[in-house]
Amino acid sequence: MDGAGPSGLSGKHVALGVTGSIAAYKVVELARLCVTAGATVDVLMTEGATRFITPLTFATLTQRRVWTTPYEPWSEAEEGHIAVGRRAECFVVAPATADMLAKLAHGLADDMVCLSALASSAPLVLAPAMNHYMWLHPAVQENVATLRARGARIVGPDAGPLASGFVGMGRLVPMERLFGEIAGMFRQRRELAGRRIVVTAGGTREPLDPVRYLGNRSSGRMGYAIAAAAVARGAAVTLVSGPTALAPPVGVTFVRIETAAEMEAATRRAVVDADALVMSAAVADFRPAHRAAHKIKKTPDGAVPEIVLERTPDILAGLRDVRIIKVGFAAETDDLLQNARQKLAAKGLAMIVANDAVATIGARDSTATFLYADGRTEEQPEMAKEALAECIIDRLVTLLKA
Ligand code: C5P
Repeated sequence: MDGAGPSGLSGKHVALGVTGSIAAYKVVELARLCVTAGATVDVLMTEGATRFITPLTFATLTQRRVWTTPYEPWSEAEEGHIAVGRRAECFVVAPATADMLAKLAHGLADDMVCLSALASSAPLVLAPAMNHYMWLHPAVQENVATLRARGARIVGPDAGPLASGFVGMGRLVPMERLFGEIAGMFRQRRELAGRRIVVTAGGTREPLDPVRYLGNRSSGRMGYAIAAAAVARGAAVTLVSGPTALAPPVGVTFVRIETAAEMEAATRRAVVDADALVMSAAVADFRPAHRAAHKIKKTPDGAVPEIVLERTPDILAGLRDVRIIKVGFAAETDDLLQNARQKLAAKGLAMIVANDAVATIGARDSTATFLYADGRTEEQPEMAKEALAECIIDRLVTLLKA
């Protein structure tokens, strides 16, 4: 399994968080496998981990400084305490104790491992190890479920003899297997290299007069997460976005628009040489037929202005003849699947993501059902939009291959 080429780890930055379990000694082998495969490995240790194994062991193997506390004066002078988290392209915690899972699930930052994980945007790989009863405790299981829903990859634990002599669930997985997961993640994550993907996000604003508009509650979070996930897998991404409070993901070509008409023009330009379009924007269906040149004023007679609406262009339907993979969204308040299936066909989509409009638009998490042109349906559990974005990109990768 060693060797830079096939593993995909060559030149990559891996953060390896080691926490206080007897299984910590096994992780020395993981550090060695990653280093041999050409990765730069930054080891972070909790105080508990240093009771089981010394930082010197990891420093010798990785030929790098090992981070054991956020309070080192040299770290602030040289790199800063969040540097390791920020440069990591994969963040591994092995062994991950019950305590560390709780800290990660709740966003604590009182040791180098959880602090760096909080500062990191890299995919998180967790290899739990603990006593059987601790692993099965609902508190631990809920923390694991939270982390999984946020997109963390949980590897193990295995069943077998534990350090206590007890046989049960809680053994750290073999290091070769964990290394395989990490390598697989790097390989998989470049699978959109050479692909051009257009993503639309956010809501549109349709002006009524120079200061007022008709808009919607879309936060843009879903589309931004999709764009970030596609960039991370090597795609060239154009993100066409309505106004949002979000910073554009690093690496996208960003096009900011306001109205449905502007979004249509920008999307048409962007799809010319694209392989796929993911239309997650909440595009207005109607706009004021006339935009007042001046701010509409109240009148002394108490009259209320009448606003006449007209249809906006349906961007997806207008691209029916553009032969690329198109993924749409259907946010509905009723007859969800029936409406979504109808839109999938009418707009010529390969896939549509159907979700409850009220629960989803503007929210952090989302439940979704994926419907495909070939009639398949796939229901997804509730998860953070970032995790859902990864699932959508997984499906897009398959659709592009087909
Ligand atoms: O018809 P409906 O608006 O429910 O369809 C939703 C899907 O169509 C979404 O993917 C949305 O981005 C897209 N859409 C569009 N142009 C519009 C309205 C929606 O492309 N004017």
